[in-house]
Amino acid sequence: MNHRVFTVGSLIPGKSAPVRNSPISTVFEKRKSEEIKPDLEKIIVVQGSNKFEITPVKGKLLDAALNQGKPIKYKCQKGTCGQCTVQVLQGPGLSKPNEQEHFKLGNELNNSYRLACQAVIL
Ligand code: FES
Repeated sequence: MNHRVFTVGSLIPGKSAPVRNSPISTVFEKRKSEEIKPDLEKIIVVQGSNKFEITPVKGKLLDAALNQGKPIKYKCQKGTCGQCTVQVLQGPGLSKPNEQEHFKLGNELNNSYRLACQAVIL
């Protein structure tokens, strides 16, 4: 018969159990750390109650989102209707707001709002 042996010493407070570095625990720890790290390369925007993660591709933010199947609402694509307004939670490599965005969004630019049809991924 195969019996596991437990000792009283393993139950003493302050005494730590031996650390095992099994392949399973190593893989688990690695995956856990990967899940915690945000993908800083992605552009993350919110429109209404929808949150979209967009992989940066040079060009208009709206085009990148739509090409990646992210259903951002839009209409004119000229910076006049405001339908494509998004709040950028994370946006590495975005252009500075242009004239249309300043005119349409005003102070909302300070709260990270952008027009997806005008913001350019550099
Ligand atoms: S789609 Fe009209 S302002 Fe962007």
